[in-house]
Amino acid sequence: MTASLRPASGPARRTVVAAAGAAGLAVALTACGSSDDDASSSSADSGSGSSGSGDDVGSGGGDAAAGAEPLASTADIPEGGGKVFADRKVVVTQPTAGEFKAFSATCTHQGCAVKSVADGVINCPCHNSNFSIADGSVKGGPATKPLPAVEITVSGDSITLA
Ligand code: FES
Repeated sequence: MTASLRPASGPARRTVVAAAGAAGLAVALTACGSSDDDASSSSADSGSGSSGSGDDVGSGGGDAAAGAEPLASTADIPEGGGKVFADRKVVVTQPTAGEFKAFSATCTHQGCAVKSVADGVINCPCHNSNFSIADGSVKGGPATKPLPAVEITVSGDSITLA
């Protein structure tokens, strides 16, 4: 009896697919039919973009390459600590006065974004891994690989991703 399962499954599967296709079509048709009701809901999404206002204060003539936009000012990075730039997926640290480092802000454990810098370590909130602000090495938690270093350029008081 079990031997007959194989041939039977072919047509059965096809039937299922056909039925799903028909259902999909029905859904699509229904969705189209209801679009009249939606006309009023075309809300003004377009104006909601968060413009990075205030960022160009003191940007001294930088029409160089795109991407040369400063990440931060050195004054933003506390000595012996650091700051997470979530939108750029990078964490910048200042392990000792005047020495700036940057690391990926993506935790090497399971890919969460690291959240904070305190007591000389970069912390991931997901499972509490923490990484050295000096070299990104694992200081605790389940992560086993260091945060990869990210190249930065410090020019005057502005820090730019290299
Ligand atoms: S993803 Fe960061 S500790 Fe698990």
